[in-house]
Amino acid sequence: MNTVRMDALLRDPRTPTPTLVLDFDIIHQTYDRFIDAFPGGSIFYAVKANANSDVLRMVLARGGGLEIASFAELERSLELGASGEQIICSNPIKNPHFLAQMHRAGVYAIVVDSTYEVEKVAQHAPGSRVYVRLAVDNNGSVLPLAGKFGVSGQEALDLFDLAAARGLEPIGLSFHVGSQCLQVQNYVNAINACAAIWGEAEQRGHKLHFLDIGGGFPAGHYRDASIPQLEAIGTAVMKAVRGGIPQAGLMLILEPGRGLVGEGGRLVSGVVGKAVRGGDEWLYLDAGVFNGLMETFEGFPPVVQLLASDADDRPMRRYTLAGPTCDSCDVIARQIEMPETHIGDRLMFLDLGAYTNEYAVAFNGFPVPEVVKIGEIVPLPQVAGL
Ligand SMILES: Cc1ncc(COP(=O)(O)O)c(C=O)c1O
Repeated sequence: MNTVRMDALLRDPRTPTPTLVLDFDIIHQTYDRFIDAFPGGSIFYAVKANANSDVLRMVLARGGGLEIASFAELERSLELGASGEQIICSNPIKNPHFLAQMHRAGVYAIVVDSTYEVEKVAQHAPGSRVYVRLAVDNNGSVLPLAGKFGVSGQEALDLFDLAAARGLEPIGLSFHVGSQCLQVQNYVNAINACAAIWGEAEQRGHKLHFLDIGGGFPAGHYRDASIPQLEAIGTAVMKAVRGGIPQAGLMLILEPGRGLVGEGGRLVSGVVGKAVRGGDEWLYLDAGVFNGLMETFEGFPPVVQLLASDADDRPMRRYTLAGPTCDSCDVIARQIEMPETHIGDRLMFLDLGAYTNEYAVAFNGFPVPEVVKIGEIVPLPQVAGL
Protein backbone atom coordinates (compact mmCIF):
# COMPACT_ATOMS: atom_id res chain seq x y z
CA MET A 1 0.00 0.00 0.00
CA ASN A 2 1.53 3.29 -1.10
CA THR A 3 0.91 5.91 1.58
CA VAL A 4 3.68 8.31 0.53
CA ARG A 5 1.39 11.11 -0.67
CA MET A 6 -0.95 10.81 2.30
CA ASP A 7 1.93 10.92 4.77
CA ALA A 8 3.63 13.86 3.00
CA LEU A 9 0.45 15.89 3.41
CA LEU A 10 0.13 14.96 7.07
CA ARG A 11 3.73 15.97 7.74
CA ASP A 12 3.40 19.27 5.86
CA PRO A 13 3.26 22.07 8.45
CA ARG A 14 0.83 23.92 6.17
CA THR A 15 -1.75 21.16 6.71
CA PRO A 16 -3.84 22.32 9.67
CA THR A 17 -4.62 19.97 12.54
CA PRO A 18 -6.77 18.01 12.95
CA THR A 19 -7.03 16.88 9.32
CA LEU A 20 -8.22 13.59 7.86
CA VAL A 21 -6.60 12.75 4.53
CA LEU A 22 -8.51 10.33 2.29
CA ASP A 23 -6.53 8.77 -0.53
CA PHE A 24 -8.92 7.57 -3.22
CA ASP A 25 -6.23 5.66 -5.07
CA ILE A 26 -5.85 3.43 -2.00
CA ILE A 27 -9.63 3.03 -1.71
CA HIS A 28 -9.80 2.02 -5.41
CA GLN A 29 -7.04 -0.54 -4.86
CA THR A 30 -8.94 -1.97 -1.90
CA TYR A 31 -12.09 -2.14 -4.03
CA ASP A 32 -10.13 -4.11 -6.64
CA ARG A 33 -8.92 -6.48 -3.93
CA PHE A 34 -12.50 -7.12 -2.78
CA ILE A 35 -13.58 -7.88 -6.35
CA ASP A 36 -10.70 -10.33 -6.80
CA ALA A 37 -11.05 -11.96 -3.38
CA PHE A 38 -14.82 -12.56 -3.63
CA PRO A 39 -15.48 -13.57 -7.26
CA GLY A 40 -19.11 -13.03 -8.16
CA GLY A 41 -19.76 -11.08 -4.96
CA SER A 42 -21.47 -7.68 -4.97
CA ILE A 43 -20.28 -4.81 -2.82
CA PHE A 44 -22.96 -2.82 -1.03
CA TYR A 45 -20.79 -0.32 0.83
CA ALA A 46 -21.98 0.47 4.38
CA VAL A 47 -22.62 4.21 4.10
CA LYS A 48 -22.37 4.69 7.87
CA ALA A 49 -18.61 4.10 7.76
CA ASN A 50 -17.92 7.26 5.78
CA ALA A 51 -20.80 9.02 4.07
CA ASN A 52 -18.57 11.50 2.27
CA SER A 53 -20.27 12.12 -1.08
CA ASP A 54 -17.12 11.33 -3.02
CA VAL A 55 -16.80 7.92 -1.36
CA LEU A 56 -20.39 7.11 -2.35
CA ARG A 57 -19.83 8.50 -5.86
CA MET A 58 -16.77 6.32 -6.21
CA VAL A 59 -18.60 3.14 -5.16
CA LEU A 60 -21.49 3.87 -7.51
CA ALA A 61 -19.11 4.67 -10.39
CA ARG A 62 -17.51 1.27 -9.86
CA GLY A 63 -20.89 -0.44 -10.15
CA GLY A 64 -21.25 -1.13 -6.44
CA GLY A 65 -24.31 -0.58 -4.28
CA LEU A 66 -24.97 1.08 -0.95
CA GLU A 67 -26.16 -0.32 2.37
CA ILE A 68 -28.15 2.30 4.24
CA ALA A 69 -29.61 2.63 7.72
CA SER A 70 -31.63 5.85 7.73
CA PHE A 71 -33.75 8.22 5.67
CA ALA A 72 -30.87 10.72 5.43
CA GLU A 73 -28.62 8.00 3.98
CA LEU A 74 -31.38 7.08 1.50
CA GLU A 75 -31.77 10.72 0.40
CA ARG A 76 -28.04 11.16 -0.05
CA SER A 77 -27.71 7.92 -2.01
CA LEU A 78 -30.53 8.88 -4.37
CA GLU A 79 -29.17 12.42 -4.81
CA LEU A 80 -25.84 10.97 -5.86
CA GLY A 81 -27.54 8.91 -8.54
CA ALA A 82 -28.05 5.50 -6.92
CA SER A 83 -31.01 3.59 -8.29
CA GLY A 84 -33.32 1.74 -5.89
CA GLU A 85 -31.80 -1.53 -7.10
CA GLN A 86 -28.40 -0.32 -5.92
CA ILE A 87 -29.60 0.13 -2.35
CA ILE A 88 -30.30 -2.32 0.48
CA CYS A 89 -31.14 -1.59 4.11
CA SER A 90 -29.56 -3.82 6.77
CA ASN A 91 -30.64 -1.79 9.79
CA PRO A 92 -33.06 -4.08 11.63
CA ILE A 93 -35.05 -1.19 13.13
CA LYS A 94 -36.67 1.31 10.73
CA ASN A 95 -39.29 3.98 11.25
CA PRO A 96 -42.48 4.07 9.12
CA HIS A 97 -41.44 7.17 7.16
CA PHE A 98 -38.11 5.62 6.19
CA LEU A 99 -39.84 2.39 5.17
CA ALA A 100 -42.36 4.26 3.03
CA GLN A 101 -39.63 6.26 1.31
CA MET A 102 -37.58 3.13 0.64
CA HIS A 103 -40.67 1.56 -0.87
CA ARG A 104 -41.17 4.59 -3.10
CA ALA A 105 -37.54 4.48 -4.20
CA GLY A 106 -37.73 0.77 -5.02
CA VAL A 107 -34.93 -0.24 -2.65
CA TYR A 108 -33.84 -3.77 -3.56
CA ALA A 109 -34.33 -5.43 -0.17
CA ILE A 110 -34.85 -4.69 3.52
CA VAL A 111 -33.69 -6.65 6.56
CA VAL A 112 -35.97 -7.89 9.35
CA ASP A 113 -35.15 -9.58 12.63
CA SER A 114 -38.37 -9.49 14.65
CA THR A 115 -42.07 -10.12 14.13
CA TYR A 116 -42.75 -6.44 14.90
CA GLU A 117 -40.46 -5.40 12.10
CA VAL A 118 -42.08 -7.84 9.63
CA GLU A 119 -45.47 -6.32 10.44
CA LYS A 120 -44.08 -2.81 10.05
CA VAL A 121 -42.43 -3.54 6.70
CA ALA A 122 -45.61 -5.24 5.44
CA GLN A 123 -47.60 -2.13 6.38
CA HIS A 124 -45.28 0.62 5.14
CA ALA A 125 -43.35 -1.09 2.37
CA PRO A 126 -45.82 -3.75 1.15
CA GLY A 127 -44.55 -6.50 -1.11
CA SER A 128 -40.89 -5.76 -0.37
CA ARG A 129 -38.12 -8.30 -0.63
CA VAL A 130 -36.90 -9.07 2.88
CA TYR A 131 -33.94 -10.92 4.34
CA VAL A 132 -33.50 -12.07 7.92
CA ARG A 133 -30.52 -11.14 10.07
CA LEU A 134 -29.06 -14.06 11.95
CA ALA A 135 -27.28 -13.68 15.31
CA VAL A 136 -23.73 -15.02 14.91
CA ASP A 137 -20.57 -15.32 16.97
CA ASN A 138 -18.82 -11.93 17.32
CA ASN A 139 -16.00 -13.15 19.58
CA GLY A 140 -12.66 -12.11 18.17
CA SER A 141 -13.92 -8.88 16.66
CA VAL A 142 -12.49 -5.65 18.05
CA LEU A 143 -15.95 -4.06 18.12
CA PRO A 144 -18.57 -6.83 18.62
CA LEU A 145 -22.09 -5.96 17.50
CA ALA A 146 -23.77 -9.08 18.90
CA GLY A 147 -26.68 -8.85 21.30
CA LYS A 148 -28.48 -5.86 19.85
CA PHE A 149 -29.60 -7.52 16.61
CA GLY A 150 -30.19 -10.90 15.03
CA VAL A 151 -32.26 -14.04 15.57
CA SER A 152 -31.72 -17.79 15.94
CA GLY A 153 -32.14 -20.22 13.04
CA GLN A 154 -35.57 -21.32 14.25
CA GLU A 155 -36.72 -17.71 14.58
CA ALA A 156 -35.39 -16.96 11.12
CA LEU A 157 -37.52 -19.76 9.65
CA ASP A 158 -40.58 -18.48 11.48
CA LEU A 159 -39.90 -14.95 10.22
CA PHE A 160 -39.72 -16.26 6.63
CA ASP A 161 -43.14 -17.87 7.13
CA LEU A 162 -44.63 -14.75 8.69
CA ALA A 163 -43.16 -12.48 6.00
CA ALA A 164 -44.61 -14.64 3.23
CA ALA A 165 -47.99 -14.70 5.00
CA ARG A 166 -47.91 -10.89 5.08
CA GLY A 167 -47.26 -10.61 1.35
CA LEU A 168 -43.53 -9.90 1.59
CA GLU A 169 -40.93 -11.83 -0.42
CA PRO A 170 -38.35 -13.60 1.79
CA ILE A 171 -35.14 -13.78 -0.25
CA GLY A 172 -32.36 -14.79 2.12
CA LEU A 173 -30.18 -14.19 5.13
CA SER A 174 -27.64 -11.72 6.50
CA PHE A 175 -25.30 -11.53 9.47
CA HIS A 176 -22.55 -9.34 10.88
CA VAL A 177 -19.51 -10.90 12.53
CA GLY A 178 -18.59 -7.67 14.35
CA SER A 179 -16.37 -4.84 13.19
CA GLN A 180 -12.64 -5.43 12.62
CA CYS A 181 -13.17 -9.20 12.74
CA LEU A 182 -9.88 -10.95 13.48
CA GLN A 183 -11.16 -14.53 13.15
CA VAL A 184 -11.77 -15.74 9.60
CA GLN A 185 -13.49 -18.83 10.99
CA ASN A 186 -16.35 -16.65 12.29
CA TYR A 187 -17.37 -15.92 8.69
CA VAL A 188 -17.19 -19.63 7.86
CA ASN A 189 -19.26 -20.65 10.91
CA ALA A 190 -21.86 -17.99 10.11
CA ILE A 191 -22.13 -19.14 6.48
CA ASN A 192 -22.48 -22.76 7.62
CA ALA A 193 -25.30 -21.69 9.93
CA CYS A 194 -26.96 -19.92 7.00
CA ALA A 195 -26.57 -23.04 4.86
CA ALA A 196 -28.45 -25.15 7.41
CA ILE A 197 -31.31 -22.65 7.58
CA TRP A 198 -31.35 -22.25 3.79
CA GLY A 199 -32.16 -25.92 3.25
CA GLU A 200 -34.98 -25.90 5.78
CA ALA A 201 -36.40 -22.69 4.38
CA GLU A 202 -36.50 -24.22 0.89
CA GLN A 203 -38.30 -27.24 2.33
CA ARG A 204 -40.91 -24.84 3.68
CA GLY A 205 -41.37 -23.50 0.17
CA HIS A 206 -39.28 -20.31 0.28
CA LYS A 207 -37.09 -19.61 -2.75
CA LEU A 208 -33.94 -17.92 -1.46
CA HIS A 209 -31.22 -16.27 -3.56
CA PHE A 210 -29.60 -13.65 -1.28
CA LEU A 211 -26.72 -14.24 1.15
CA ASP A 212 -25.39 -11.09 2.80
CA ILE A 213 -22.18 -11.70 4.76
CA GLY A 214 -22.18 -8.17 6.19
CA GLY A 215 -19.12 -6.13 7.12
CA GLY A 216 -16.38 -6.80 9.62
CA PHE A 217 -13.52 -6.96 7.10
CA PRO A 218 -10.54 -5.67 9.06
CA ALA A 219 -8.09 -2.94 8.11
CA GLY A 220 -4.39 -3.02 8.88
CA HIS A 221 -2.88 -6.28 7.63
CA TYR A 222 -0.16 -4.25 5.85
CA ARG A 223 1.18 -3.13 9.27
CA ASP A 224 0.24 -6.14 11.43
CA ALA A 225 0.36 -9.64 9.96
CA SER A 226 -1.90 -10.99 12.71
CA ILE A 227 -4.81 -9.07 11.15
CA PRO A 228 -6.42 -11.30 8.50
CA GLN A 229 -5.92 -10.31 4.90
CA LEU A 230 -8.95 -9.74 2.67
CA GLU A 231 -7.65 -12.45 0.38
CA ALA A 232 -7.58 -15.02 3.21
CA ILE A 233 -11.13 -14.14 4.20
CA GLY A 234 -12.18 -14.37 0.56
CA THR A 235 -10.72 -17.85 0.11
CA ALA A 236 -12.43 -19.19 3.24
CA VAL A 237 -15.74 -17.47 2.53
CA MET A 238 -15.93 -18.61 -1.10
CA LYS A 239 -15.19 -22.20 -0.08
CA ALA A 240 -17.96 -22.14 2.56
CA VAL A 241 -20.43 -20.47 0.19
CA ARG A 242 -19.74 -22.90 -2.65
CA GLY A 243 -19.91 -25.85 -0.27
CA GLY A 244 -23.14 -24.96 1.50
CA ILE A 245 -25.34 -22.56 -0.47
CA PRO A 246 -27.09 -23.38 -3.77
CA GLN A 247 -25.23 -21.45 -6.46
CA ALA A 248 -27.93 -20.98 -9.12
CA GLY A 249 -28.94 -17.32 -9.18
CA LEU A 250 -27.17 -16.64 -5.89
CA MET A 251 -26.53 -12.98 -4.97
CA LEU A 252 -23.54 -12.92 -2.60
CA ILE A 253 -23.57 -9.55 -0.87
CA LEU A 254 -20.70 -7.89 1.01
CA GLU A 255 -21.27 -4.78 3.11
CA PRO A 256 -17.76 -3.54 3.87
CA GLY A 257 -17.39 -0.28 5.74
CA ARG A 258 -14.01 -0.16 7.46
CA GLY A 259 -12.61 -2.87 5.17
CA LEU A 260 -13.13 -0.70 2.10
CA VAL A 261 -12.22 2.78 3.30
CA GLY A 262 -10.28 2.33 6.57
CA GLU A 263 -6.76 2.04 5.18
CA GLY A 264 -7.36 4.94 2.79
CA GLY A 265 -7.59 7.47 5.64
CA ARG A 266 -5.04 8.90 8.08
CA LEU A 267 -5.58 11.61 10.65
CA VAL A 268 -3.05 14.18 11.82
CA SER A 269 -3.48 15.82 15.19
CA GLY A 270 -1.35 18.39 16.98
CA VAL A 271 -0.09 18.19 20.57
CA VAL A 272 -1.49 21.25 22.34
CA GLY A 273 -0.60 20.53 25.97
CA LYS A 274 1.35 18.35 28.41
CA ALA A 275 1.03 17.56 32.10
CA VAL A 276 2.28 15.11 34.73
CA ARG A 277 -0.53 13.76 36.93
CA GLY A 278 0.01 11.20 39.68
CA GLY A 279 3.27 10.23 38.03
CA ASP A 280 1.65 9.73 34.59
CA GLU A 281 2.65 11.85 31.65
CA TRP A 282 -0.27 13.24 29.66
CA LEU A 283 -0.37 14.60 26.12
CA TYR A 284 -3.37 16.72 25.13
CA LEU A 285 -4.22 16.68 21.42
CA ASP A 286 -6.49 18.79 19.23
CA ALA A 287 -8.41 15.63 18.22
CA GLY A 288 -10.14 13.44 20.77
CA VAL A 289 -13.09 11.19 21.50
CA PHE A 290 -15.63 13.78 20.36
CA ASN A 291 -13.94 15.23 17.29
CA GLY A 292 -12.70 12.23 15.34
CA LEU A 293 -11.47 9.48 17.65
CA MET A 294 -14.79 8.16 19.00
CA GLU A 295 -13.88 4.55 18.27
CA THR A 296 -11.12 4.70 20.90
CA PHE A 297 -13.89 5.25 23.46
CA GLU A 298 -15.60 2.09 22.23
CA GLY A 299 -12.43 0.12 22.94
CA PHE A 300 -10.64 0.30 19.59
CA PRO A 301 -7.00 1.07 20.39
CA PRO A 302 -5.52 3.81 18.19
CA VAL A 303 -2.50 3.12 16.01
CA VAL A 304 -0.45 6.26 16.37
CA GLN A 305 2.95 7.49 15.23
CA LEU A 306 4.93 10.60 16.06
CA LEU A 307 5.60 12.66 12.93
CA ALA A 308 9.03 14.12 13.62
CA SER A 309 12.16 13.79 11.51
CA ASP A 310 14.15 12.88 14.64
CA ALA A 311 11.47 10.52 16.08
CA ASP A 312 13.84 7.53 15.92
CA ASP A 313 16.47 9.36 18.00
CA ARG A 314 14.15 10.40 20.82
CA PRO A 315 13.97 8.37 24.05
CA MET A 316 10.86 6.22 24.50
CA ARG A 317 8.27 7.34 27.07
CA ARG A 318 4.83 6.21 28.27
CA TYR A 319 1.96 8.61 27.66
CA THR A 320 -1.73 8.93 28.26
CA LEU A 321 -3.30 10.64 25.24
CA ALA A 322 -6.31 12.90 25.76
CA GLY A 323 -8.51 15.03 23.54
CA PRO A 324 -8.96 18.77 23.91
CA THR A 325 -12.40 18.98 25.55
CA CYS A 326 -13.18 19.47 29.24
CA ASP A 327 -14.96 16.12 29.47
CA SER A 328 -13.08 13.58 31.59
CA CYS A 329 -14.08 10.75 29.25
CA ASP A 330 -12.13 12.42 26.45
CA VAL A 331 -9.14 10.06 26.79
CA ILE A 332 -7.88 8.26 23.69
CA ALA A 333 -5.27 5.86 25.06
CA ARG A 334 -3.51 5.12 28.34
CA GLN A 335 0.12 4.29 28.94
CA ILE A 336 1.18 3.87 25.36
CA GLU A 337 4.83 3.80 24.41
CA MET A 338 5.99 6.55 22.09
CA PRO A 339 9.09 8.61 21.41
CA GLU A 340 9.35 11.68 23.64
CA THR A 341 6.79 14.17 22.40
CA HIS A 342 6.65 17.95 22.74
CA ILE A 343 3.94 20.57 22.51
CA GLY A 344 3.65 21.48 18.84
CA ASP A 345 4.54 17.99 17.57
CA ARG A 346 2.18 16.17 15.18
CA LEU A 347 0.79 12.68 15.67
CA MET A 348 -0.48 10.50 12.83
CA PHE A 349 -3.32 8.02 13.41
CA LEU A 350 -3.49 5.15 10.92
CA ASP A 351 -6.44 3.41 9.25
CA LEU A 352 -9.01 6.09 10.02
CA GLY A 353 -10.88 6.29 6.73
CA ALA A 354 -13.95 4.85 8.50
CA TYR A 355 -15.92 5.95 11.57
CA THR A 356 -13.91 9.15 12.06
CA ASN A 357 -15.74 12.21 10.72
CA GLU A 358 -19.03 10.29 10.73
CA TYR A 359 -18.90 10.22 14.53
CA ALA A 360 -17.32 13.64 15.02
CA VAL A 361 -18.98 16.66 16.65
CA ALA A 362 -17.53 20.05 17.58
CA PHE A 363 -18.27 19.59 21.29
CA ASN A 364 -16.87 22.41 23.43
CA GLY A 365 -16.10 24.30 20.22
CA PHE A 366 -13.25 22.05 19.13
CA PRO A 367 -13.58 21.57 15.37
CA VAL A 368 -14.07 18.28 13.61
CA PRO A 369 -11.16 17.27 11.34
CA GLU A 370 -10.91 18.93 7.98
CA VAL A 371 -11.13 16.40 5.17
CA VAL A 372 -8.56 16.54 2.38
CA LYS A 373 -8.98 14.20 -0.58
CA ILE A 374 -6.26 13.01 -2.88
CA GLY A 375 -6.23 10.56 -5.78
CA GLU A 376 -8.79 9.96 -8.46
CA ILE A 377 -12.31 9.82 -7.06
CA VAL A 378 -14.11 8.50 -10.13
CA PRO A 379 -11.87 6.47 -12.43
CA LEU A 380 -11.51 7.75 -15.97
CA PRO A 381 -13.03 5.37 -18.50
CA GLN A 382 -10.47 3.05 -20.07
CA VAL A 383 -10.05 3.97 -23.73
CA ALA A 384 -9.30 1.00 -25.95
CA GLY A 385 -5.84 1.09 -27.48
CA LEU A 386 -4.37 3.54 -24.98
C1 LIG B 1 -25.56 -3.80 8.99
C2 LIG B 1 -24.15 -3.38 8.86
N1 LIG B 1 -23.48 -3.67 7.74
C3 LIG B 1 -22.20 -3.31 7.56
C4 LIG B 1 -21.51 -2.60 8.53
C5 LIG B 1 -20.10 -2.22 8.27
O1 LIG B 1 -19.27 -2.85 9.16
P1 LIG B 1 -17.70 -2.75 9.04
O2 LIG B 1 -17.34 -1.32 9.05
O3 LIG B 1 -17.19 -3.52 10.18
O4 LIG B 1 -17.33 -3.37 7.73
C6 LIG B 1 -22.17 -2.29 9.74
C7 LIG B 1 -21.47 -1.57 10.80
O5 LIG B 1 -21.93 -1.34 11.88
C8 LIG B 1 -23.52 -2.68 9.91
O6 LIG B 1 -24.20 -2.39 11.02
